[in-house]
Amino acid sequence: MAKILVNNSGPLHGEVEISGAKNSVLPLLAATLMTEDVCVIEDVPDLADVSVMKQMLRNYGTDVDDSEAGIIRTSTKEIRSCEGDRDLVQEMRASLFTMGPMLARYGKVVMPMPGGCTIGKRPIDLHLKGFRALGAEVIEDEANEVVTVSAGPEGLVGDAIYLDFPSVGATENILMAATMAKGTTIIENAAKEPEIIDLANLLNKMGARIKSAGTDMIRIEGVERLSGCIHEAIPDRIETGTFMLAAAITRGDILIKNALPGHVRPIVAKLRECNVDIEILPEGIYVDARDRELKATDIKTLPFPGFPTDIQSPFMAFLCTVNGKSFVRETVFENRFMHVVELNRMGADISTENSREAIVPGGRKLHGAKVRATDLRAGAAMVLAGLVATGTTEISEIYHIERGYEDLVGKFKALGADIMKIED
Ligand code: UD1
Repeated sequence: MAKILVNNSGPLHGEVEISGAKNSVLPLLAATLMTEDVCVIEDVPDLADVSVMKQMLRNYGTDVDDSEAGIIRTSTKEIRSCEGDRDLVQEMRASLFTMGPMLARYGKVVMPMPGGCTIGKRPIDLHLKGFRALGAEVIEDEANEVVTVSAGPEGLVGDAIYLDFPSVGATENILMAATMAKGTTIIENAAKEPEIIDLANLLNKMGARIKSAGTDMIRIEGVERLSGCIHEAIPDRIETGTFMLAAAITRGDILIKNALPGHVRPIVAKLRECNVDIEILPEGIYVDARDRELKATDIKTLPFPGFPTDIQSPFMAFLCTVNGKSFVRETVFENRFMHVVELNRMGADISTENSREAIVPGGRKLHGAKVRATDLRAGAAMVLAGLVATGTTEISEIYHIERGYEDLVGKFKALGADIMKIED
């Protein structure tokens, strides 16, 4: 199994270019299933999760052309299968994003239960609630762990759907299904993440009639047919936040290019509370933590525009290194503190009140250790901690990191990090 080795690197310095957002590209690719025309998605990062989505599409019958770096052309002349591949679905929960499009285009989808990062139970009840509201029949075969969703002879019919929690995936799936339903659909308490707006922009380019995506009430007038389009994915706000924290934790300075400041406001605000200097420049976000006394702050994760759960673990790694005690509260997922054990192996001394509240004492000198990337973002937290720990940090299970960070080792190296990937 491959590993990443990180040595104490001193302050990182330089420029980094942010890739297209993984969490946008996955639903964007899924949405292309809804037309027989050619769709072109640009600024696609080279990631394991993107490869899984490409394979999902191919299995349904899509011709996927990825011969040009960063660009994927899809053409789905006909759907050849309506069954999600169990291995692919187990590998990546976002495989679920093909359910809404398949239902819209083909009228039926058979989906094994998903896998992905082990950060809580992560049910799909809200996705299914939405499909049922649109008139679909949902049959859950718990013995075989398969869900079959069928639109019925009349097809999907628009309705009002209230989400009990503003789930990103459920909002995206229902949005896609409703795009080709008859009449009007309203999604209430919808997720407001930038990736939802990106998806709605793509769908509207394809001929959909979606209004007010990015608010908690999305209105969709169903259309009969979608056509092809060209669309560039938004930059990855979680990768942006990770490099902001790389500057902060190493007390360095980094100019982050191709980043959208409006998407990372809570991270900017929290780092400023810690006394990190952040300037929003025309060419990017400049983060400067050199020669400054940094201090503790408290973090509470929330749906957008609150503090992103995906930055909780990288931020916690940073809080280990500042003076003073910080409280971290995770409200989005019920089991997203697995990195605490790993950070404690490095001397962080973090205590957890329960599975949602942690106390970071701060001011600790971290030391290198053998640690695991327990999920995608926890893996990034280990890299950040390794940059400032004494000695070598050896990170295993790095396939999690490769799911979501394009060329992480190369980008960190270019900023002066002592980091390498080895095949064990
Ligand atoms: C997406 C992101 C992930 C991010 C998360 C929250 C992608 C590919 N992944 O994941 O990086 O951490 O948003 O910002 O975009 N829930 C239910 N029932 C459901 C669906 C969700 O109870 O049917 C719960 C989940 O268990 C979780 C919470 O809602 O506790 C948030 O999940 P959700 O917003 O759906 O996350 P994902 O779309 O899976």
